[in-house]
Amino acid sequence: MGKDVIVACDFSSAEQVFSFLDKFTEEKPFVKIGMELFYAEGPQIVREIKARGHKIFLDLKLHDIPNTVKKAMSVLSNLDVDITNLHAAGTTAMMQAALEGLTRPDGTRPLLIAVTQLTSTDQEAMERDIMIHAPIDEVVMHYAATAANAGMDGIVCSPLEAGKVHERCGRNFLTVTPGVRFADGDVGDQKRVMTPAAAKEIGSDYIVVGRPITGAADPVAAYRRCVAEFCD
Ligand code: C5P
Repeated sequence: MGKDVIVACDFSSAEQVFSFLDKFTEEKPFVKIGMELFYAEGPQIVREIKARGHKIFLDLKLHDIPNTVKKAMSVLSNLDVDITNLHAAGTTAMMQAALEGLTRPDGTRPLLIAVTQLTSTDQEAMERDIMIHAPIDEVVMHYAATAANAGMDGIVCSPLEAGKVHERCGRNFLTVTPGVRFADGDVGDQKRVMTPAAAKEIGSDYIVVGRPITGAADPVAAYRRCVAEFCD
C-alpha cells in the first residue's frame, strides 16, 4: 500500500458517520474506526463502511493474554479490515499470537501495527505509574524495535518520530502518524503537530487526520487539501 490519508471517524453513531461519508461523492477515503464507534454500533458498522468501498483501519488497540488476543484477532480477520492494531506493551508473545490469529487460512491478513507509549503518557506518568525509568524517546524506539522483531508491519507514532523509526526499523516498517494539522488550522488538544506536507517530507507512510477534516466547514475540500499536501 502506498501513502494515504486516513480519516479518523470519531463519531458515536452510524447515523453521524454516514452523514459525514455521504459528503464524499467522488472519492472513497481510507477510514479509521475507533473504540467509540465500534462499541456503539458493533462489527456491523465495519461491514457497512467496507461495503461502501472504503479501506478500514480498525483502531481497537488490543492488549490481553496471548491466547485471548489471538482469538480476538481471528474474529477481526473475518471483518476484512485493511489495518488493525495492538499495544506493543503486550510483549512479543502477544504480538506473535495476534499475527497467528489474524492470518486467514489462505495466508492473507490485514496489516498489523503496534501502539508504543500513548502520546497522552509523559515521562512523569510513565515513571510514577508504570515504573519505567528510561527516557520516553528511548522507550518508544525500543517498543518499535520489539514490534518489528515480533513481525509487526509498523507502528503508530508521532510524525516527529517517523524518520527515526525508519532509521532503526527499516524503510518498509510502516509509520502511521496522527497529530497532523494544517499550517493555518486549530491545534486543539494535540501538543506535537506537523502539517501533511512536513509529514510527507519526514517519511510518514499514512497520516491519520480527524478534526481538521471532520470538523471543517467543507470536509471534502479539507480532505483534498490533505491528499494534495501528503500524497501528490
Ligand atoms: O482529531 P485528530 O486529528 O486529533 O484525531 C487524531 C486521531 O488519532 C484520533 O482518533 C486519536 O484518537 C488518534 N490518535 C492520536 N494520538 C495517538 C494515537 C491515536 O491522536 N498517539
